[in-house]
Amino acid sequence: MGFLSLRVGLFFALLGGVRTCDEHDHLLWDDYSHFQEHFQGHRRAFPSTNLPVPTRPLEWGDVNIIHTTDSHGWLLGHQKSSFPEPNYSGDFGDFASFVAHMKEIASEKDVDLLLIDTGDLHDGTGLSDGFPPGGIDAHDSNQFFAQLPYDVLAIGNHELYIYNVTLDMHTNFAPKFPGRYLSSNANITVPDGNGNNVSVPVGSRYAKFTTAKGRNVTALGVMFHFTGNDEGTTVQAPAAMVKETWFSEAIADEPDFFLLIGHMPVRNGDWPTVFNAVRAVHPTTPILLLGGHTHIRDCVQLDGRMMALESGRYMETVGWMSVNLTQTSDTDNLTFSRRYLDPNRVTFEYHTRTRNSTFDTSVGQEITQGLDALSVSYDLGFQYGIAPQDYFLTAAPYPSNSSALTLLSQEVLPVALAVNNSRANIPAFMFVQSGGLRFDIYKGPFDKNDQFTVSPFTNAFVFIPNVTINLGQQVLDGLNGVTPSKREFVEEMEETEYARGDVAKRYREWLKRMAEYDAVQKRDTENLTLGYVTHDSCPGVGDDIPHTAIQSYTSVPNYLASPLPPGVDPDSPIVDLVFTDFVQGNVLQALNSAQSNRTFTTADVGSYSDCKLNCVLGVFAQQSWN
Ligand SMILES: *[C@@H]1O[C@H](CO)[C@@H](O)[C@H](O)[C@H]1NC(C)=O
Ligand SMILES: *[C@@H]1O[C@H](CO)[C@@H](O)[C@H](O)[C@H]1NC(C)=O
Ligand SMILES: *[C@@H]1O[C@H](CO)[C@@H](O)[C@H](O)[C@H]1NC(C)=O
Ligand SMILES: *[C@@H]1O[C@H](CO)[C@@H](O)[C@H](O)[C@H]1NC(C)=O
Ligand SMILES: *[C@@H]1O[C@H](CO)[C@@H](O)[C@H](O)[C@H]1NC(C)=O
Ligand SMILES: *[C@@H]1O[C@H](CO)[C@@H](O)[C@H](O)[C@H]1NC(C)=O
Ligand SMILES: *[C@@H]1O[C@H](CO)[C@@H](O)[C@H](O)[C@H]1NC(C)=O
Ligand SMILES: *[C@@H]1O[C@H](CO)[C@@H](O)[C@H](O)[C@H]1NC(C)=O
Ligand SMILES: *[C@@H]1O[C@H](CO)[C@@H](O)[C@H](O)[C@H]1NC(C)=O
Ligand SMILES: *[C@@H]1O[C@H](CO)[C@@H](O)[C@H](O)[C@H]1NC(C)=O
Ligand SMILES: *[C@@H]1O[C@H](CO)[C@@H](O)[C@H](O)[C@H]1NC(C)=O
Ligand SMILES: *[C@@H]1O[C@H](CO)[C@@H](O)[C@H](O)[C@H]1NC(C)=O
Ligand SMILES: [Zn+2]
Ligand SMILES: [Zn+2]
Repeated sequence: MGFLSLRVGLFFALLGGVRTCDEHDHLLWDDYSHFQEHFQGHRRAFPSTNLPVPTRPLEWGDVNIIHTTDSHGWLLGHQKSSFPEPNYSGDFGDFASFVAHMKEIASEKDVDLLLIDTGDLHDGTGLSDGFPPGGIDAHDSNQFFAQLPYDVLAIGNHELYIYNVTLDMHTNFAPKFPGRYLSSNANITVPDGNGNNVSVPVGSRYAKFTTAKGRNVTALGVMFHFTGNDEGTTVQAPAAMVKETWFSEAIADEPDFFLLIGHMPVRNGDWPTVFNAVRAVHPTTPILLLGGHTHIRDCVQLDGRMMALESGRYMETVGWMSVNLTQTSDTDNLTFSRRYLDPNRVTFEYHTRTRNSTFDTSVGQEITQGLDALSVSYDLGFQYGIAPQDYFLTAAPYPSNSSALTLLSQEVLPVALAVNNSRANIPAFMFVQSGGLRFDIYKGPFDKNDQFTVSPFTNAFVFIPNVTINLGQQVLDGLNGVTPSKREFVEEMEETEYARGDVAKRYREWLKRMAEYDAVQKRDTENLTLGYVTHDSCPGVGDDIPHTAIQSYTSVPNYLASPLPPGVDPDSPIVDLVFTDFVQGNVLQALNSAQSNRTFTTADVGSYSDCKLNCVLGVFAQQSWN
């Protein structure tokens, strides 16, 4: 416990965020004057032209793959007009139309095209997480996901935090893709027919199938060594999995290619373990590997006859991989290509050689309408107020007036937690974990869906009375690892957090590397739009549209404090120390190591407000943004 569990609360709490229906009307490309005006407010000028059109057609092979991962409920796409959100404005109906056209093109070209997903279908938008009481996260939004012709899917860690969610995947989702929803090392315990509990794979351990063009495939769906799973579910370490008899048997026969998919990052993870186990038996068989989980765009090749692709997050990226299998010898390096597409209609129309008027398929339109209807039934458009400007999680420094973290700690907590609070007249020193926010806040209407997107966490606010400001400050410093002895705790804590599913640190590090890389590029950025600038380990340029990187300020303390109550003697024991229940154990530990006059225990902690972390922004918006 203690420091080890500091920020992991985020992952148990439901992470959420959705785009509202009323905003959903497809972005009109001629809306751009608004973007420009808005853009000039805080960053470089933006040309008032249409969305950039890709200029490089996709490179097809004889086997081609479209890859989604870590969609986290963003099936309605990104519908805000602030940068770079329009890049990702395609919704799942648009994506369905794209896939349908791509399948036609594959058929014309007489090649294989597979559609693959590698997990984390919810915890990120209201569309998945805004379900009514008694519901199950993503049960409704998954109905739309299941309308796409996925060939193989793998389970994500977010499908394993809550037993009932895993059960829903096992009982309702997996059967939509018979034998193709893969969980090689993730099980669920369920009653068998005789009232005994048995552990069974959530989906299937592996799949063997033949493609449209007659290639035989052996597919696995591997979860990283995740430790944050709920009781009644089990995750086996990949290193143990490859020693299982079933695994040896599954890979014994040589297919035309192996499809290693799963919820593991393609770099700095356990893929080499799985890859080497296959290579030990099949030194040259082509391996197509699709990973996920760290939310980044990445590509590596572990040898010349494989490629490993990771395709971002939140439907901000659709991944493309292709390879020519037939035109090479059995030992020469294979020629692969990969591309990271910005999912929007402009991108989709370009690559399918369609126009606005010929792009939509009826299935695609039905999916869009169904998603809109779901958004209405969850009341995701309920508006709390109008955000006066953009507030960024990493694209503005902390502290600053454009920082969402500054907004939360300096303005939101003092206002929201004072509402209907009998202790509002007692001076309070409040702090909150910086992981409590998950997404930017954009200028304009702030609604229920935005609330899920920005802070879905169900942490409650609690307090300890009669503390001095000086002691509160020492507690804060301890939690932030300001002293070297505490820093070790923080590092250990971060490793544990990663094992329990926290990828925020790895994602921030990627943004930081990206900005650094972008800054040393010698190119004319005059006409480039903001977005991801990917620098991976595969040959050639991966990004479909060249962008210039979003500024990113990744150095943020673990805990953020509200302004000190004015006019209070820092040594008077009269202040309420306010924090979230999620970090209670750590706060108590920090309190007890900062002083020895008394031992603080849970008995000293009281409930401070009925408004939880996932409520404070809405209350604040109602008070201050109306
Ligand atoms: C596959 O071969 C075709 C024909 O030579 C070529 O046009 C295409 O670029 C190749 N694709 C890849 C992914 O190398
Ligand atoms: C991506 O976002 C930028 C804003 O940074 C915008 O100018 C551009 O048009 C978007 N690109 C696409 C393809 O939507
Ligand atoms: C899980 O689902 C069962 C059956 O639907 C329900 O009785 C139970 O309350 C649910 N558990 C949780 C923690 O939601
Ligand atoms: C099966 O597991 C459930 C949930 O953990 C438990 O309540 C039940 O007692 C178990 N049944 C048996 C027969 O072990
Ligand atoms: C997963 O389920 C299989 C099949 O029931 C079982 O043999 C295996 O022991 C289970 N694995 C774990 C780690 O529980
Ligand atoms: C794939 O096809 C080849 C030749 O048809 C056959 O020898 C091999 O056993 C098949 N592999 C699998 C995994 O089905
Ligand atoms: C084949 O690919 C490997 C790994 O990508 C590379 O090290 C090697 O130089 C390549 N060989 C040839 C002949 O291109
Ligand atoms: C695309 O077509 C829809 C109707 O199908 C229309 O509402 C929209 O304005 C069109 N967009 C453009 C850019 O022409
Ligand atoms: C933030 O805004 C306040 C009030 O408008 C202003 O006084 C202050 O200088 C701003 N701070 C920064 C860092 O821009
Ligand atoms: C806090 O201090 C006030 C005033 O000194 C006192 O009345 C109250 O009992 C104290 N509360 C606790 C929990 O010690
Ligand atoms: C940017 O776009 C403008 C207008 O299309 C064009 O005249 C100019 O040459 C472009 N600049 C660069 C560096 O491509
Ligand atoms: C500990 O108690 C002493 C004596 O009552 C007092 O002077 C000091 O301020 C207390 N320290 C803290 C941290 O409360
Ligand atoms: Zn994820
Ligand atoms: Zn994940």
